[in-house]
Amino acid sequence: MMGRLVFVTGAAGYVGSHCVLEFLVNGYDVIVIDNLVNCVITDGNELPESLIRVQHLTGKKIKQFIDGDLRDSHLLDSIFANNDIDVVIHFAGLKAVGESIDKPLLYYDNNIIGTINLLKTMKKYKVDKLVFSSSSTVYGEPEQLPITEHFPTGQNCTNPYGRTKYMLEEIMKDVCRASPDWSIISLRYFNPVGAHFSGDIGEQPNGEPKNLMPYITQVAVGVRQELKVFGNDYKTSDGTCIRDYLHIEDLAVGHLKAIDKIYNNNFPGFHAINLGTGRGYTVLEVIRAFEVATGVKVPYKIVGRRPGDACAVYADARLAQEVLEWKATRGLQDMCSSAWKWQQKNPNGYRSKINIVQILLSKL
Ligand SMILES: NC(=O)c1ccc[n+]([C@@H]2O[C@H](COP(=O)([O-])OP(=O)(O)OC[C@H]3O[C@@H](n4cnc5c(N)ncnc54)[C@H](O)[C@@H]3O)[C@@H](O)[C@H]2O)c1
Repeated sequence: MMGRLVFVTGAAGYVGSHCVLEFLVNGYDVIVIDNLVNCVITDGNELPESLIRVQHLTGKKIKQFIDGDLRDSHLLDSIFANNDIDVVIHFAGLKAVGESIDKPLLYYDNNIIGTINLLKTMKKYKVDKLVFSSSSTVYGEPEQLPITEHFPTGQNCTNPYGRTKYMLEEIMKDVCRASPDWSIISLRYFNPVGAHFSGDIGEQPNGEPKNLMPYITQVAVGVRQELKVFGNDYKTSDGTCIRDYLHIEDLAVGHLKAIDKIYNNNFPGFHAINLGTGRGYTVLEVIRAFEVATGVKVPYKIVGRRPGDACAVYADARLAQEVLEWKATRGLQDMCSSAWKWQQKNPNGYRSKINIVQILLSKL
């Protein structure tokens, strides 16, 4: 295992940083590319703050950080020409559903063109092993529950972001059909939440959070006044939407299992695998769990439904167990307490440090 080189795209982000930590701890060498659109880098540093902290936590070094964009095919070419890459883990992408509705061309350009460049360069340099960040959004509003990997994808996607994931999966299937040596695992995440147990790395939403857990923690820490709960007239036990929340550290282990699998086994072809717990919680259940885990009250108000929100979404998680020998082990309490630890230690996310420095400098 020692010395295997993984090339990680979008590694400075929320999911990428937790996964890079897991890869380093488990003996992989890592080189990363990130164009810094959704992460923080401080003046004078060569690495984004998230990855500096990953190095501190692991005591290991990232072999190389490239500040660059996947749409720059010359850059990609030089990275593959100069490194003996074994496996690619592809996180880089834009992911804000609302923004994708307003700016579809930006999403298709960034997510689709960036990935096509990556696949073309991999083909040129005969690197044929890829783990891709997909999403349960490819299923749209499911007709049945729990959601298995055999459910139709694409036709129920409600936004361009989800469609980029669907289209990319279709492109990857075609690549595998044309070249049987390729091995691609597309991990369809359900709802990753929480933070590393240290509280040193976590999720830093840009602006107003669109997801439940960061919204809850920002209300709890006082950055926002109250949580908006979108709809309480769904057909669920308390009327609020159900989602399958998954601890980010479990998600990171899922990626480790996926690279171990494509590296160690003859596992050709395209494989879509759900990463979820298989259990759903309503919004009100999550709020209550957070209050129990942290002792902090979360003021909320019920507002109207948000367009495009499905009533209930949770995974059938058995395939991941069969194929990857992976199963989520951390529960909702753990998700809440780790998210809270991260938020308390970093009220402004990775920007805390910068703010303090700026404040000190402004006083000179
Ligand atoms: N977080 C979730 O809830 C979730 C759920 C399902 C799927 N996903 C997918 O997982 C992946 C990672 O998500 P995340 O939450 O860590 O997002 P993130 O925004 O925190 O991380 C993505 C990283 O990719 C970088 N990036 C974006 N476009 C790039 C480009 N063209 N070239 C180079 N770097 C680029 C950004 O700067 C960022 O650091 C994304 O593809 C996302 O769609 C995330």
